[in-house]
Amino acid sequence: MTTAPFDFTPLLPAGLPSAASRWTGRPKYDFTGGNNDPDALPLDGLVAAADAVLRREGRTLSTYGLDSGPQGYRALRDFLAVKLKRDAGMNCSADDILITSGSLQGLDLVNHTLLERGDTVLIEEDCYQGSINRLLRLGVTPVGIPLDREGMRIDALEAALAGLKAKGLRPKYIYTIPTVQNPSATVMPLARRTALLKLAADFGVPVFEDDCYADLTWSGHRPPALYGLSDHGNVIYIGSFSKTIAPALRVGYLVAPWSVMSRMLAIKTDAGSGALEQMVLAEYCTAHFTRHLPLLRKALRAKAVTLMESLREDFGAAAEFDDPQGGIFLWVKLSDGVDALKLYKAARGADVAINPGPEWSVNGAHARSRLRLCFANLSHEEINQGVAALAEVCRKEFGVPG
Ligand SMILES: Cc1ncc(COP(=O)(O)O)c(C=O)c1O
Repeated sequence: MTTAPFDFTPLLPAGLPSAASRWTGRPKYDFTGGNNDPDALPLDGLVAAADAVLRREGRTLSTYGLDSGPQGYRALRDFLAVKLKRDAGMNCSADDILITSGSLQGLDLVNHTLLERGDTVLIEEDCYQGSINRLLRLGVTPVGIPLDREGMRIDALEAALAGLKAKGLRPKYIYTIPTVQNPSATVMPLARRTALLKLAADFGVPVFEDDCYADLTWSGHRPPALYGLSDHGNVIYIGSFSKTIAPALRVGYLVAPWSVMSRMLAIKTDAGSGALEQMVLAEYCTAHFTRHLPLLRKALRAKAVTLMESLREDFGAAAEFDDPQGGIFLWVKLSDGVDALKLYKAARGADVAINPGPEWSVNGAHARSRLRLCFANLSHEEINQGVAALAEVCRKEFGVPG
């Protein structure tokens, strides 16, 4: 006798996000997501680090929090405090750092601490989809600030702040990805960072700095973090090992003044982020991080070049883009006739996956013909083949390229 499956539907609370679809495997040419270069992953180093740290300290796994307390494995926070000072000019100690389960958990902690339904925040107009969706789900209005080649435009930010103030609205934060922005890959220069911080201070609005690509500038140099430049204690900072080591490890970090860190700790109710990953990262990174990065950057830069060459070859003038300043994405503008959402659907039929621009922007019209392509995960050959297949689909659907 077969029984009907239990029906959970009447039990679901109102306002639950729509159901997820089942995973059916990755497409052959997957230009989506923030996936990294499998060949640049420092596998041998991680294996050796796991072996060493487990033999030395493995028995601390018997304790929630590894005897390091709720902010995460002490050796990893010590590594980060040194790294953030050296690379990003941030004066912070291990006590100012919270290890999170990916920087996405950092985003959630900041949002759930500061935001409530009906709030307004300022974000870059073209922006990380994960950030936009979280805000919309919380009933928060993200006001988009246009970007140029130096990141968030300060004149537009000032106008938005003044406009909101005139309406009696004080945004809860200015969210920015200033160093290798997602998706535009721009890097905000020092002068603009200073100007942004001045506006934030003048209008009494905190800054939420998302810096997960900051180690991936081609030059290896980056301007100081907003967190390091501010003398107001008004910046909350998140970073990640997803883009420098591996996204599947799910290890990120958050740096914040204790006044707000203590509130976030109170809502981080997961009894600690995965400890083994933290131990392995601390062991590996303390010894090898600075040597690993140039190899990763070189591999990523070569793939960025391959992608740009493929696009020039297969799309010609129909694809416009700026040479990215680092990272793993190219933000591409196709001819106006191309509807990126339709292209996305049609491309799936050819086993090609792209991120359609409107999902990475709060300005649908501006992003209508844009795509975000991740070049890190595919091989050079797959990038060539994937772009050729995409051009074929685009030609069939929109007559572009001509
Ligand atoms: C700007 C930005 N922030 C945060 C994240 C989340 O990264 P993770 O949770 O893997 O650290 C991503 C991932 O792509 C991102 O692009």
